[in-house]
Amino acid sequence: MKKYLFTSLLLSSIAFGDQGYEVYKNNCMACHAELLTKKDVMANMNNLKAPPMNEVSNRLKENIIIADKNEEVKKRVVIAFIKDYIQEPLIGDTMCHAGAVERFGLMPAITHLKADELQAVAEWIYERYENMKF
Ligand code: HEC
Repeated sequence: MKKYLFTSLLLSSIAFGDQGYEVYKNNCMACHAELLTKKDVMANMNNLKAPPMNEVSNRLKENIIIADKNEEVKKRVVIAFIKDYIQEPLIGDTMCHAGAVERFGLMPAITHLKADELQAVAEWIYERYENMKF
């Protein structure tokens, strides 16, 4: 019984990560590459439409600073920001370098995603790049 519970918990978290990756592939990948080094970005600046997702993830984690030391609280704040930004990108909200916004322009709003898809993709962005620097 315990084993069953563990397996089903494991499966459901894998399924959620999968859903996030699917949402990313279908809605974000055309502009945000999954993983590029800073060097790759510099070398391919003219072909890129947006910062790579590892840069986005890293930048949000570095910039969003909360008083609470609890990592789970920080994760929730970052996820809330991402879900918000997808639906309504605003020049006053972006944490991108000014130069990047000038180069790429502001992200167009994506308004067709369902609540569970927004949650899944935002969690995926947080977890996919855990402990990775850009
Ligand atoms: C048509 C191209 C395009 C698509 C599609 C796109 N983005 Fe973006 N995104 C951008 C650009 C350009 C920026 C950088 C300028 C800005 O911050 O608005 C950006 C910035 C962001 C930021 C803010 C980063 C920061 O530092 O503030 C987040 C978060 C983000 N995108 C998430 C997503 C997610 C999640 C998806 C898919 C559901 C997605 N984007 C789809 C072009 C796109």
